[in-house]
Amino acid sequence: MMETHFIPNSYSNNLENGQYSWQAPSNIALVKYWGKYGEQLPKNASVSFTLSNCNTKTTLSFEARTLEGFDFEVYLDGKREIGFEPKILKFFERVEVYLPFLKDYKFKIETSNSFPHSSGIASSASGMSALALCLMSIERSLRESEMTDEYFSQKASFLARLGSGSACRSIEGDLIVWGEHSAIDKSSNLFGTKYPLVVHENFKNYQDTILLVDKGEKQVSSTVGHDLMHNHPFAEERFRQAEENLSKLIPIFESGDLSAFIEIVESEALSLHAMMLTSLPYFVLMKPNTLEIINRIWAFRLKSGSKICFTLDAGANVHVLFPEGEKKLVSEFITQELAQFCKNGEFIEDQVGFGAKKI
Ligand code: PMV
Repeated sequence: MMETHFIPNSYSNNLENGQYSWQAPSNIALVKYWGKYGEQLPKNASVSFTLSNCNTKTTLSFEARTLEGFDFEVYLDGKREIGFEPKILKFFERVEVYLPFLKDYKFKIETSNSFPHSSGIASSASGMSALALCLMSIERSLRESEMTDEYFSQKASFLARLGSGSACRSIEGDLIVWGEHSAIDKSSNLFGTKYPLVVHENFKNYQDTILLVDKGEKQVSSTVGHDLMHNHPFAEERFRQAEENLSKLIPIFESGDLSAFIEIVESEALSLHAMMLTSLPYFVLMKPNTLEIINRIWAFRLKSGSKICFTLDAGANVHVLFPEGEKKLVSEFITQELAQFCKNGEFIEDQVGFGAKKI
């Protein structure tokens, strides 16, 4: 499939004004995307769990206008947020060819996150996917002919990707692949797709407790991090490793082998951070407490036989992953041993979810 698939022919309906609202979740990658080319295309395929409790709600109101240029305002929790506007402007410029109605309206984007703004949890995945879905609702109303649900979700994911790469994995659930992979039918660099193969029930309702180790602004943005993969001495090997790790996960998802799952997921997290440690300039996003938590998780696993493991995104927070059946055991461990390493003892209990919802 090509980008041109998402350029609409023409719109036949007229729409003076209106409003759409969507709630879209965050996601956590098991095989990580780090390094891109062209217009937000991934250098390797990735796979993620869609989350449930960590989400963004966005209402997009629109009103017809005749002026030149884009016209929009962004509100976070009811307050105008001028700081978000350059990112949205860039997004609108990128997607205009796919949404030719963008200059015909004045937009009001009202957004709020279920997690605290200062939690260090990136809102770009859930935020961009919620906005992309609202825009798709407008496009659906403008078209006279029926739009299939498949096209709606695919194009929403395609647009979200142009806002923030990993956002394309936040439209559906529960396990989403983004990036072409030879063993995964219909996988695409252009948008996320549902993992199409067998998944063992060990992975149903998998739990993710996010330990908030550092709630400040990241020292290095993921945009800069992705860029540093160009000319990175280990880049090609890393892309190969990710491809291979996704291949290895296929039989693991099928058999439910949690020990093998843990090995890949933790290795992926550490490999992602190894790329940061070995780029030029080099940088470290983990904090001393990140390492303390990792060591405690390993010690607990050894002692208890639990299938708890961790993963990291591009920051210091730790995602603690475990099967639903271990909820009581692991919750106690987190409260008694790990919470002390979180800022103000804070963590967020989440689990695998099934994608965005229209509200
Ligand atoms: O979507 P971006 O550009 O913020 O990059 C996200 C990268 C990681 O979260 C580190 C990995 C991933 O696959 O989500």
